[in-house]
Amino acid sequence: MSIVDIVAIAWTLLALALVPMQLKTTAPYGRHARTDWGPSIGNQLGWCIMELVSLVVFAGLFLLGPNDKTEPMWVFFALWAAHYINRSLIFPWRTHTRGKSMPVAIVASAALFNIVNAGLNGGYLGSWGPVYPPEWISDPRFIGGLMVFALGAAINISSDNRLIGLRAKGGTDYTIPQGGLFRFVSCPNLMGEIIQWTGFAIMCWNLPALSFAVWTAANLIPRAVSHHKWYRAKFPDYPADRRAVIPGLI
Ligand SMILES: NC(=O)c1ccc[n+]([C@@H]2O[C@H](COP(=O)([O-])OP(=O)(O)OC[C@H]3O[C@@H](n4cnc5c(N)ncnc54)[C@H](OP(=O)(O)O)[C@@H]3O)[C@@H](O)[C@H]2O)c1
Repeated sequence: MSIVDIVAIAWTLLALALVPMQLKTTAPYGRHARTDWGPSIGNQLGWCIMELVSLVVFAGLFLLGPNDKTEPMWVFFALWAAHYINRSLIFPWRTHTRGKSMPVAIVASAALFNIVNAGLNGGYLGSWGPVYPPEWISDPRFIGGLMVFALGAAINISSDNRLIGLRAKGGTDYTIPQGGLFRFVSCPNLMGEIIQWTGFAIMCWNLPALSFAVWTAANLIPRAVSHHKWYRAKFPDYPADRRAVIPGLI
């Protein structure tokens, strides 16, 4: 087993070990924002900085690494880059959160998280891992994983769009989201993100991609549970049969 695989396994175990803490303490941004977490930064700028890190680190390590870049590897690169161009350069500026802020500590810890995940994945594909043969593109894991990724991305983006649309008339307050997968869960955008990176792990079939999928679920399931509890506490008429993130289950 290579060093990068050992690091990826240790990193994955850390994600699982931190789940109880994530269920107890919700990261204080968005609806869970607090003022006792030290200095803060504008919400949109914070999102842009912490997510741009992932784009830059992954792209740098992938493009500068000595590995030959075959077609399937360019597909991995394109998916990662497209996701993080949206998340860092487009999504933050579309949200109606002007005037809101988030703690610098959250931006710093998210940036660190992104450096490790993007570093492991970009470094693996660019340098430390094998060169994927061109035929990998017709492997059932690549095709199936790509379909799962596309499904997750579609759910994530369409649900984020629905949430952004709730404030189309102005303001920064919250209303009950309706329609789409919000009929079943409070946080289909987070569900979509988990599906998306699960698909990426299937199509890459390597430990760094698996560790990122596990980290995403370990972060977002507790966050969705917190969002869900918050909705129930805030809105007495909140739909009773709606779950947090997995329809019918959680
Ligand atoms: N890969 C990862 O580990 C990871 C980690 C975190 C986030 N993400 C992704 O980043 C995106 C944003 O995450 P998030 O936790 O900020 O999602 P979120 O809490 O659902 O918020 C998304 C946006 O919609 C607004 N919003 C949410 N619910 C609303 C409501 N009921 N009424 C009006 N506006 C509402 C939020 O405003 P406020 O900011 O004012 O609440 C925010 O601008 C998601 O797509 C998520 O999947 C990924």
